[in-house]
Amino acid sequence: MVQQRIPEEIIEEIKARLDIVQVIGEALPLQKKGKNYHGLCPFHSEKTPSFSVNQEKQFYYCFGCGAAGNIINFMMNYHGQTFLEVISGLADRAGVVLPQREETEEEKAKRKHRERLREVNELAGKYFHYLLKESDVGRLALEYLNKRGLTVETINKFNLGYAPNNWDSLIKVATKRGFSEKELLQAGLVISRERGSGYYDRFRNRVMFPIYNPSGRVIGFGGRVLDDSHPKYLNTPETPIFNKKNNLYALNWSGQEMKSKDQGIVVEGYMDVIVAQQYGIENIVATLGTAFTREQAQLIARYTSNVVIAYDSDVAGQAATLRGMEILRDAGCRVNVMQLPHGCDPDDYLRKYGKQKFISYFNNEAVSLVEYKLKHAIDKYGLSSISGKAKIVQALIGDLERVESAVEKEHYIGVIASRLEISETAVKQELERISVTRSNNKIEDKNVKNRYTNQRVKSKDEGIMPARKQAEQQLFWLMLEDQQIMNTVEAELGDDFFTDKTVCDLYNKAKQLQKERDKISPSVLMDRCTENEELELLGKLFAKDIDSLSNVKQLVKDYTNILKQSKKQERIRQLQKELHEAETTGNQTKTIVLLTKIQQLVSSD
Ligand code: UTP
Ligand code: MN
Repeated sequence: MVQQRIPEEIIEEIKARLDIVQVIGEALPLQKKGKNYHGLCPFHSEKTPSFSVNQEKQFYYCFGCGAAGNIINFMMNYHGQTFLEVISGLADRAGVVLPQREETEEEKAKRKHRERLREVNELAGKYFHYLLKESDVGRLALEYLNKRGLTVETINKFNLGYAPNNWDSLIKVATKRGFSEKELLQAGLVISRERGSGYYDRFRNRVMFPIYNPSGRVIGFGGRVLDDSHPKYLNTPETPIFNKKNNLYALNWSGQEMKSKDQGIVVEGYMDVIVAQQYGIENIVATLGTAFTREQAQLIARYTSNVVIAYDSDVAGQAATLRGMEILRDAGCRVNVMQLPHGCDPDDYLRKYGKQKFISYFNNEAVSLVEYKLKHAIDKYGLSSISGKAKIVQALIGDLERVESAVEKEHYIGVIASRLEISETAVKQELERISVTRSNNKIEDKNVKNRYTNQRVKSKDEGIMPARKQAEQQLFWLMLEDQQIMNTVEAELGDDFFTDKTVCDLYNKAKQLQKERDKISPSVLMDRCTENEELELLGKLFAKDIDSLSNVKQLVKDYTNILKQSKKQERIRQLQKELHEAETTGNQTKTIVLLTKIQQLVSSD
């Protein structure tokens, strides 16, 4: 929202060359309805489209949750990108060259440090790869990988390596190349000795899997033992450049594939990804041995909104699958899960049965979140008792409610009914009962935070707004729409008549903008918003259609009057308070003066 040292003219140039309808249309389906485009709001869960995009004014507004903004706000909120990321992405797209700004010394130092950490990781990757392929010490590791079916091409593509069984091999190599031990430590490649001083190599006698960021730089490693000892994998700890929860293994190779296939597969292990890619299944990534995170979901959602999870079907795997599915669904993805036979991960399956079987298994056995939960609920509660069936329906109803497509929902209702041998009507009634309870329970809505913007999700019914606030908002809107109205109102009321903080702040911003240019453009005003409330209010106001008003002049008069009256009332109350004080202190003269003033005010119009 707040601009960060990129000149406003550049930002406007970028926005002028792009169309918000097209950009948002790439993220979600939009349909033209009248002047505007409509779709399902990506910022809250809903079934009827209340999200609107206004092409003329280049902004979006959701009538359901109040989310609002211009193309930049959309990119930030939808893709979870920072302002600078959005600007640089949009600039590329618009063909606008961004001016280079001077970095501060601190930023420069930080950038250089991070670059050094990537460089030392890259050096380590090369060194490990070299040892694996060319050295005697790496022979056993190479045999191990060959035994697991990896080809030379695969080993090269993934830059697999071997960390030798010494305490200081990497330290020696890296320090000889000019890296300090401190840099090695900060890159997570070495560990401080507990006793005495100095460091030792973190990864020893392990097969090494370099982890790349999406732009293809090495940022960390996973290292596997060659036998059954523990821990099976060691990973780079959190470092300034490596954060597990923000990365997905192999995204640098599979991002494009996920995009072009419009589907992504998520697995757990390094080996699962590598083997699958060797089999030509390239739209696949792995979580890095942690629970699937929101950040990872958003990362995937940049490439595709169709995701299949293929985790091991052990108990831990199941719990992880469920969480992962819910997180992905909440990030707006359509999720299916492929349940492999027990104790079999994608790597095992592929090597045992081959690609064709894997793909047909994938196509035939992958189930949706609702079906997956149904299966587990049946396992848990059983089908023999009526109370068990009721519990199963209860367990599923929330997810069923979240299914946005009516066709799919109908389908699942059928599936549940037939599996439980109950009528579809019963399932539907339960669903209705839930939604009625929900809508009666407005309090619940109030505190729901929007998952992207942290904006409070509002219910449509905002309650009754005090007349004064209503008048301020309306009047402010009419003033924004029409310069003539602005002049009239200011002539009538002066320039200090708004009392609502948001309206007041926006009015000041609008005046500033007007001073700088002739026109107040909604989209530029949105760029200058510093609070979500401001964006939401602008969205709400600009979403109205001034042409549909029949008597604008009269409206302006009425609202102006309300403000005038309410200002007067305020003044009278103030004077009455002073009057009361004057009376209690026995100040006769003052009492008379105040009384006269009040009488004058009351009788004026
Ligand atoms: P798995 O135990 O399923 O390993 O862990 P895997 O990938 O199938 O490995 P192989 O086939 O036995 O060689 C899945 C993932 O969890 C993380 C790793 O990222 C691994 O790929 N993990 C597992 C760890 O980080 N540490 C561990 O000790 C084990
Ligand atoms: Mn495995």
